Amino acid sequence: MNKLWGGRFEGTMDALIEKLNNSLPFDSRLWREDIAGSIAHATMLGSTGILSQTDSQEIVMGLESLRDALTSGAVSLPSDAEDVHTAVESLLRERIGAVAGRLHTARSRNDQIATDIRLHLRSACDAIEKEITAFQQTLLTLSEKEMETILPGCTHLQHAQPIVLAHHLLAYFWMLDRDKERLRETRKRVNRLPLGAGALAGTGFPIDRQQVADILGFEQVLPNSLDAVADRDFLIEFLAFASILAMHLSRLAEEIILWNTPEYSYILLDDSVTTGSSIMPQKKNPDVAELVRGKTGRIYGSLVTLLTLMKGLPLTYNKDLQEDKEPVFDAIDTLMVVLPALNMTLSTATFQRERMAEAARGDYSTATDLADYLVRQGLPFREAHEVVGRVVRYGIETGQPLEALDAPTLSGFHPLLAVNPEGAQEVVTLQWSVQARRSQGGTAPEAVRAQWKQAEARLKE
Ligand code: ARG
Repeated sequence: MNKLWGGRFEGTMDALIEKLNNSLPFDSRLWREDIAGSIAHATMLGSTGILSQTDSQEIVMGLESLRDALTSGAVSLPSDAEDVHTAVESLLRERIGAVAGRLHTARSRNDQIATDIRLHLRSACDAIEKEITAFQQTLLTLSEKEMETILPGCTHLQHAQPIVLAHHLLAYFWMLDRDKERLRETRKRVNRLPLGAGALAGTGFPIDRQQVADILGFEQVLPNSLDAVADRDFLIEFLAFASILAMHLSRLAEEIILWNTPEYSYILLDDSVTTGSSIMPQKKNPDVAELVRGKTGRIYGSLVTLLTLMKGLPLTYNKDLQEDKEPVFDAIDTLMVVLPALNMTLSTATFQRERMAEAARGDYSTATDLADYLVRQGLPFREAHEVVGRVVRYGIETGQPLEALDAPTLSGFHPLLAVNPEGAQEVVTLQWSVQARRSQGGTAPEAVRAQWKQAEARLKE
């Protein structure tokens, strides 16, 4: 295939070097954006009089028919083209002849590729946002049903204080909410127009960049042509967003894996999201959750790739920038699979409510409530902590949970426990402990219902 830059060269390119140089194997996925950008550019060239109306219209119609032909599969990109821009231009030339050669007036592949990738990422942001919203909807639906489901809340992976499952699920809702905020912030900076920067210094033709921005739906025209062709901050921001989101999904995946073990048995995973073993007939493995956890590594890798790629690049365009695409495409593809896959895993899972309650019973996780009880009787918290510590030690030594300690036993630990031993016995039950935490953002069902409403309203924004 002819190069877009053959004139200056006498010799031909070595086959190995061509393989290194060509980007079509991965930038072919930008053909829709490349054509959209070219349609906007050709329209502007016509309306500013840089091209005649006839030429402009011929090019636009040629591009539109090419887009339809590529969409229907009637034609495909020539595989020997250097990049997507060369491939599109050569197909256009086949359709409309030499006038196709006027399209590249006042444009460079440097501002063209920056425009293509921004358009592509903008659509990807919208698609990913939909998947995040669907995931949040699942968390809302599930948590609505689990307002009274008690399970051990943990710190250090040790039973800490009892919580309700809805509260635990909603914690992930808010993580995803912040992810969405970050995504929307990123999208704003993605949605700015580089086209019109030319190779680096602008152009001598009287172009109208605002018109191009309007046609393509960009919110702003990038004010500096050098920055416009050299900036890839928006890709790094996207990958930072993607990394944090992947980290959240990975944490949830890890909990699903733990909760699905026979030791926990808090959840049962549906057959549709599990796999078996080729040797052990009894196995049912949580592969989806493991892959979600594992794929987090590739997204982090992409972020580090881009940060490293950009570090030390002198202004303006350098061919290094061609390496920006694959990591970003990979992160988009990965998120577009792991988000719905983990969503499916969660929405089809069965929560083993009885098993969760059983795990929380007798685990001394209401010890704080007994200490708080003594505080309400007037004891300073530090002393109350000390007294209850002794109660717990006694319970462990005698093999009795807090709930089982009778009134005379409790009374023996402190005079304030003798005042109303039934009151002390009541506060160490799971129900009481959970109900008590009515502070804003706490785990009491009453507080969680308020939180749920807030989450629901947020999702509708
Ligand atoms: N394939 C190139 C890229 O991905 C497009 C821009 C090429 N520009 C150039 N001057 N060689 O960055």
